[in-house]
Amino acid sequence: MSDRLRPGAEAGKDPRRHLLSVAELGADGIEEILRVSDAFVEVGRRSIPKVPSLRGRTVVTLFAEQSTRTRLSFETAAKRLSADVLSFSVDTSSVKKGESLRDSVETVAAMGADAFVVRHPSAGAPAAVARWVDASVVNAGDGWHEHPTQALLDCYTIRSVLAERAGRPLDEAGVACFAGLRVAIVGDVRHSRVARSLVLALGVLGSRVTLVAPGTLVPPSLEGWPVDQVSHDLDAVLPHVDVCYLLRLQMERGAGAFVPTLREYSATYGLTAVRAARLSPDALVMHPGPMNRGVEIADDVAALPRSVVLRQVANGVAVRMAVLFILLGPAGSAGGSALAHALGSAVGA
Ligand code: CP
Repeated sequence: MSDRLRPGAEAGKDPRRHLLSVAELGADGIEEILRVSDAFVEVGRRSIPKVPSLRGRTVVTLFAEQSTRTRLSFETAAKRLSADVLSFSVDTSSVKKGESLRDSVETVAAMGADAFVVRHPSAGAPAAVARWVDASVVNAGDGWHEHPTQALLDCYTIRSVLAERAGRPLDEAGVACFAGLRVAIVGDVRHSRVARSLVLALGVLGSRVTLVAPGTLVPPSLEGWPVDQVSHDLDAVLPHVDVCYLLRLQMERGAGAFVPTLREYSATYGLTAVRAARLSPDALVMHPGPMNRGVEIADDVAALPRSVVLRQVANGVAVRMAVLFILLGPAGSAGGSALAHALGSAVGA
């Protein structure tokens, strides 16, 4: 598989592996990551949830923007794989003394790094880091562009809930559950890298996506977005979806200027308990976090059994373990025997 995480591989130019965009993965690549994640979910249930697969490797988390979930999730994932973790926060680094990002990245790379996990407010920053260093790079969210591992953990969560409900073991789940799945992505699509990656992932897996937003919060062009329709009427859409995926109104990116008032936005596009009652009994409510409670999601909706927000967070660790394992593990590590070997060895054994 791993060639799907290694765009230069076919040309024989770049032996490193990266995850910069969901678009690079294709359905097979996504399915493989979900299958490997199944194994790491099982590791997470062990009394010592740790395997030695990446012992001796170093993972750098380079965050130039705030994060709770993604950063801690990647760091937990790397530690559970026994990698060493270097945590580089731009806000407390020499970038604040005027050092360029490139010099900073090359400095950290000189200490010996096998992978950089990069979050940055500028689209394309992880791709730039991939050009500067001789290490694998994972996009942990770049500007309005993409957030590939968020989309992967969201797909993983949908698949695991649906498999559980059907009474099917996860290792038989595949990705067939996504074909024809009706998903509404609601809210600030314009500023959302999460929406872009999720739409690309669901599109390639055959789901039917409806974007629900005021016209001002729909991207100016939807070219390359495999969506079925755009709606401005959340109440009309809700009864017809299997998943209602809420997006955070991104005030820090100026979203406040795109809506008349927060109160009016919430009244029209917020998922209140009254509105959630329009969903079919089995429909899921999802949110990538952090949530603006009382804006896009009401407190009591976040607490409903159909809300799987914390399950998304929990699955994020296993999905990120899978990504790091595939990128940095032994060649062909996603193949059954290497994975089985890695998972069979407890740390210290
Ligand atoms: N979902 C997400 O990316 O959250 P953080 O910004 O907390 O990482």
